[in-house]
Amino acid sequence: MRRERWPIDRGGKAGFPRWFPAIGPKMTMQGRTIALGVSGGIAAYKACEVASKLVQLGASVHVAMTRSATEFVTPLTFRTLTQNPVIVHMFAEPKHWSVEHIGLAERADLFIIAPATANIIGKLAAGVADDFITTTLLATAAPVLVVPAMHHRMYVHPIVQRNIVLLQEIGYRFMEPETGRLASGGYGKGRFPSPEKVVEQAVALIGYEHDLTGRTVVVSAGPTVEPLDPVRFLSNRSSGKMGYALAAAARDRGARVILVSGPVGLRPPLGVETVYIETAAELRRVMLARAPGCDAVVMAAAVADFAPKGRSEQKLKKQAIPAILELEENPDIIRELSQLQPRPVLVAFAAETSSVLQAARTKLETKGVDLVFANDVSQPGIGFGSDDNQVTMVSAAGAEEIPRMPKARLAHVIWDRVKSRWG
Ligand code: CTP
Repeated sequence: MRRERWPIDRGGKAGFPRWFPAIGPKMTMQGRTIALGVSGGIAAYKACEVASKLVQLGASVHVAMTRSATEFVTPLTFRTLTQNPVIVHMFAEPKHWSVEHIGLAERADLFIIAPATANIIGKLAAGVADDFITTTLLATAAPVLVVPAMHHRMYVHPIVQRNIVLLQEIGYRFMEPETGRLASGGYGKGRFPSPEKVVEQAVALIGYEHDLTGRTVVVSAGPTVEPLDPVRFLSNRSSGKMGYALAAAARDRGARVILVSGPVGLRPPLGVETVYIETAAELRRVMLARAPGCDAVVMAAAVADFAPKGRSEQKLKKQAIPAILELEENPDIIRELSQLQPRPVLVAFAAETSSVLQAARTKLETKGVDLVFANDVSQPGIGFGSDDNQVTMVSAAGAEEIPRMPKARLAHVIWDRVKSRWG
């Protein structure tokens, strides 16, 4: 999938048309291949604008329509807007194109289904593949963005909602329809969102500049779990969100990513090699095996400092559990990684509740790392389990306050700082 370096000549808001809001540090749609599946609803005419705007941003857009979509808009409209042939019949003889559409499932960086009717959502959820769009979707590993638009009573119908949840669970992204006057004359939730918003979502999904192409990074995430016996364990409150955001951000910027994860309730990011561990000892083994030769290691995992001494293979009876548990110290993994030659850029996290800066400076020195991102987890709304974080970055050069922001965005700031260490 899209792992080559695209020609980048535009960055941030400056390179985009005026209607496009700035949503990321450096983004481009140049060189991206987008498959746009149009199903049969009145909002099909708005998909024309989506296609046109994506083309304006430099993407190569390939449209496939269901037969009923052609009742609302003609294939010629999309062909003219995208300068690419439009597929309607799955087995039609290719005329002016051959290689272009073959392998679209493999070449596409993103699939957008817009508008998505209740019918196509139902088919996708059931795994039905009876036309070009549904067949190609089953064959792709690219992210999928679905933009439902339908009568509001259909949208809120439990079957449609169940299908949406099912598809979300396997990683499909859904945009919320807007509330307002519907083509049928009624009022409610079901309107196709503005084409700008759809395009903005598409850029957010695949528009990052591939500035980490050729780099391999290892990210650890989540807690470690240290068993006392088969049912009891010592652990901590890490949700894994920061580490998973880091893995997804590096992937979006073209890096090869290995995510080493403790037990968390998060879906593994697509396109990222995810290795699961439980104990600090397992984490150490995997990190020592995977870190050599890579460009950066980010230890976002909250490694339990201690493990119960002598794990019991059988469940301990209450009477057999001592009132005072004997613990043994876990190895300091990142400190061991700092001995690697050549040494990857090393990033540590420090979750503190007091003297945050001082603790971060101490960790920078004792662990032999390049960057420490420290946060005060006693503050509400940041740190463990939350979607936002507010960190201070400490390096040999000093401290930098990074304002509160979503972890998904902070992940990009962290990669920017790592990138600057590579020179
Ligand atoms: N870390 C590690 N191995 C350990 C403990 C921590 O690699 N055994 C890493 C963490 O992943 C994190 C950084 O070191 O990136 C700091 O973790 P923290 O738990 O704050 O460090 P400790 O050395 O355990 O310090 P403290 O005494 O504050 O618990």
